Amino acid sequence: MIKLIVAYDKNRLIGKGDKLVWEIKEDLKHFKKETENQTILFGDITFTGIGKPLPNRKTIILTLDKSFKYNHKDVTIEYDINNIINTYKNNNDKNIIIAGGATIYKLFLPFVDEMIISHIQSEYEGDKYFPKWNTKDFFVEFEEKHNGFIVKKYKRK
Ligand SMILES: NC(=O)c1ccc[n+]([C@@H]2O[C@H](COP(=O)([O-])OP(=O)(O)OC[C@H]3O[C@@H](n4cnc5c(N)ncnc54)[C@H](OP(=O)(O)O)[C@@H]3O)[C@@H](O)[C@H]2O)c1
Repeated sequence: MIKLIVAYDKNRLIGKGDKLVWEIKEDLKHFKKETENQTILFGDITFTGIGKPLPNRKTIILTLDKSFKYNHKDVTIEYDINNIINTYKNNNDKNIIIAGGATIYKLFLPFVDEMIISHIQSEYEGDKYFPKWNTKDFFVEFEEKHNGFIVKKYKRK
């Protein structure tokens, strides 16, 4: 299965440059809970912005740059989105969680089975956005209110 996790504001803003523009501890806790002991995928810009692999997770970094290196037991580098789609799409035994950023979300959106979105109830300034998506393609399976944001889990219809 291909899942996606993102936090975006009222305008679908997700960040600025290679960084987030907010620090919402409760949302980071939620991200940790959803991704721990799983395989997550980042674009190389988001990964470089974070600076190191997140603990207790396998990380795949997607890049077109063949000289990009990161030596760590829990990190692999992938250059071809088709390898990811062929491995995880329609595979109930293997999950991957697409974790950004903007370019990566846009690439994977047509293939995701499930999205976990933190809808942040404010407006921020930045330059990276989650792509427009059609709410008609998904249904809300789960919803949870937090302080300043609402988590919704969407499944593809
Ligand atoms: N709010 C959230 O939930 C959230 C989550 C994650 C990230 N973010 C934010 O998102 C922003 C970063 O987004 P971004 O769009 O600049 O960068 P990104 O999506 O993290 O990475 C983009 C990189 O992916 C590689 N890439 C693009 N197409 C590819 C393909 N077809 N195959 C293989 N690799 C490919 C390219 O690397 P090369 O050019 O090196 O080949 C490209 O530079 C940051 O502000 C970050 O904080 C927000």
